[in-house]
Amino acid sequence: MAKHTVVTIPGDGIGNQVLPQALRVLDAVGFDADYVHADIGWECWRKEGNALPQRTIDLLARHKLGLFGAITSKPNKEAQAELDPELRGKGYVYYSPIVTMRQKFNLDICMRPCIAFEGNPLNYIRKRTNNGFDEPSIDTTVFRQNTEGMYAGIEWTNPPEKIRGALATHPKFDAFASTPGPDLAVSVRIITRSAARRIVTAAFEYAKKRGFKGVTICEKPNVVRETSGMMEETAREVAKNYPGITLWSTNIDAQLMWLNKNPEDYNVIVASNLFGDILSDAFAGLVGGLGFAASGNIGDQVAVFEPTHGSAPKYAELNPPIVNPIAMILSAAMMLDHVGEGTQAERIRRAIADVVREGRVRTYDMLRLSGGPKAIGQGAVSTVQMTDAILEKLGEIRAFARPAVSSAPSRMTQV
Ligand code: NAI
Ligand code: MG
Repeated sequence: MAKHTVVTIPGDGIGNQVLPQALRVLDAVGFDADYVHADIGWECWRKEGNALPQRTIDLLARHKLGLFGAITSKPNKEAQAELDPELRGKGYVYYSPIVTMRQKFNLDICMRPCIAFEGNPLNYIRKRTNNGFDEPSIDTTVFRQNTEGMYAGIEWTNPPEKIRGALATHPKFDAFASTPGPDLAVSVRIITRSAARRIVTAAFEYAKKRGFKGVTICEKPNVVRETSGMMEETAREVAKNYPGITLWSTNIDAQLMWLNKNPEDYNVIVASNLFGDILSDAFAGLVGGLGFAASGNIGDQVAVFEPTHGSAPKYAELNPPIVNPIAMILSAAMMLDHVGEGTQAERIRRAIADVVREGRVRTYDMLRLSGGPKAIGQGAVSTVQMTDAILEKLGEIRAFARPAVSSAPSRMTQV
């Protein structure tokens, strides 16, 4: 039996292209694992009326470690229309399988590193006041609370009378009291102290491990007094346990301005769900965008690692595939960190860093080409070739651009 078992969940579209590439890299660094395939996504919705089948939940519950590609999701009307005719009209409701997965396993800590690789042509640059440009080295990791806040899913259009009644007990509701129900939408932002403590603690632990001097809590407590207030208050309490690390506090609006001015000043940022989602995309844009954005969804028991990008359906059918596998491969490296194989993770990141620095091998996004079948002829490499170049750095492949390998390693089994 291998040391680790990983539930591999490629999902839809390009998830199927990038995940097998990550497995090649995991093999190359000697990660001792068995892989168990699990289903998720659009086909599951269409054929079973459930985008996250129970069998996938069971596998994750058993093995506790998942590597996930991406899913396609569509608005409810389209979802209903694409449902298998036999299932239509039977009350099936589409729920995002990712949100469901996060809530089901309480994957409450979302970790999103946005760390620039030297030589990446997509890196943020800043004009100097005299002439020329600076390219500050950005090394930011966003810790986003993953299960509560604005994404808790407690919301109504035309809220029931009981809810209206409860809202009416707040003096500020007077301004909305005469709004007719169908014209009134309410989303509830819930923060619990225990979840706030967990996400802030994760941020501080990471800062400690990396030797950073500070953690920034990014909220808006001057306006959203109760929920952002609790986040900040909790952060102040947690900070007391880390005497060598300073707690800074920024407001989400100002933070987005500062990330365009001095992004290198922020190494660790912690925020509630919606703000963390916004911040992590914004920072990811400074270090290469979706082709480089990795993430971990980490709970008490179960952890699932995934690139931030979606299924990119417009590129899903291209042969050879052209999308950048680095985000997926970096997610696999995060998984290695999580299971205590940090040395292997470091080897992967170094190999990626070497490939990016050399600049010989670049996917279409790194060349700012528009994606499509022509990209390869314009100098971009394919998904497989990018992985080959990374494997070459790991000593696995001697010459770049050997014949394409697009199948998964043989140890990826279907159950
Ligand atoms: P997307 O992330 O799939 O793609 C947006 C664009 O980003 C692509 O068209 C492509 O130009 C670029 N891109 C994405 N991944 C790339 C990669 N690895 N290398 C190079 N370029 C890359 O987002 P979009 O188009 O908004 O959504 C497509 C589908 O994915 C939707 O059904 C959406 O619901 C779903 N989605 C799923 C997510 C997930 O599984 N975690 C996250 C975001 C969207
Ligand atoms: Mg997002």
